[in-house]
Amino acid sequence: MKTVVGNLCSPFLLSQLGNSRPCLLKLRTSAASPLFKRSFAAAIKVRAAAYSAVVGVEPTEPVVVQNDGISSNNILACPICYDPFSSSGDPGLSVASVSGSSFQCRTCKKTYFGNETHIDLTTASGAKDYGESKPVSTEMFRTPLVSYLYERGWRQSFTVWGGFPGPEKEFELIKDFLKPVLGGGNIIDASCGSGMFSRLFAKSGLFSLVVALDYSENMLKECYGFIQQEDNFPKENMILVRADISRLPFATSSVDAVHAGAAIHCWPSPSSAVAEISRVLRPGGVFVATTFILDGPFSLIPFQRKIAQRTKQMSGNQLFTSESELQDICQACGLVGFTKVRNGRFVMISATKPI
Ligand SMILES: C[S@@+](CC[C@H](N)C(=O)[O-])C[C@H]1O[C@@H](n2cnc3c(N)ncnc32)[C@H](O)[C@@H]1O
Repeated sequence: MKTVVGNLCSPFLLSQLGNSRPCLLKLRTSAASPLFKRSFAAAIKVRAAAYSAVVGVEPTEPVVVQNDGISSNNILACPICYDPFSSSGDPGLSVASVSGSSFQCRTCKKTYFGNETHIDLTTASGAKDYGESKPVSTEMFRTPLVSYLYERGWRQSFTVWGGFPGPEKEFELIKDFLKPVLGGGNIIDASCGSGMFSRLFAKSGLFSLVVALDYSENMLKECYGFIQQEDNFPKENMILVRADISRLPFATSSVDAVHAGAAIHCWPSPSSAVAEISRVLRPGGVFVATTFILDGPFSLIPFQRKIAQRTKQMSGNQLFTSESELQDICQACGLVGFTKVRNGRFVMISATKPI
């Protein structure tokens, strides 16, 4: 049995009895909107009913909820310690409620803050003088211009020159690969960009929680903007998180599915990233990703391997020249059951965390 204790009026403690290293979740109450308080209260009631264990459901009173397991929405963890922030999830966490929330890790005491659009769960968040610079393939997407253009033509161009099938078809293919884990679990849309697929995941109703994750603050702002423009968008089952793919802020073995669209070639270290994905996936959890393969006529280019190496050094972009490279990364990082579909330069791959 696990126990959660909370009080909305003051910074509150979510502690997990039986967990030797619980974490604090705090709300800056001045910033907590009535909407947040209402959704929190409603969620507490639902959860309390679901777990049938209660000591008070009024939002102004301490609340005790007991449950028998870790919720699939309870996956956020300190990116430094990897300790979960709470034992049964933040019942009020949603696109709307992130603003003004904060999380404190009980182990390292670091506090992470949510702003209007997302929670910053990078290790360097809060650093005042230190500014970290990543390779061009990451930094480029942090600019307001590229973030703005991304879903206004940039992404669509992948269909023209890269063989990508277009968002609707791509989404159908993703769902096919995700079949083993469909049924109300959680999904991380890793390197979500402006959240084209995160939004489709949320609207599909197939997941209890969708985490739209990217390193680019501006991409996350774009994603938030698109969400705000949509009527009746299901904001309650989605959150936007800023994080580095090589340091994922999720508890080990807590994630049902990770999707990474057109991103693996942009990551500074694809193997460190896939290793992280492998760490956070639960046994049986599925990783689905798309990227480009430069084979066929491209393999006739002399010194192809050297060119790929140089490109990586200069831009950070990984040029994959065969599908077996992707299979190799997955296998090296402990994922099994590699499968793929190809169309021209486009490839969609999937692999599974062994049970
Ligand atoms: C080409 S976009 C893909 C966006 C979206 N997934 C899609 O399917 O269109 C690549 C994304 O990778 C993100 N990215 C690059 N380096 C990253 C890193 N180290 N950690 C997390 N995301 C990163 C960029 O910010 C960018 O949004």
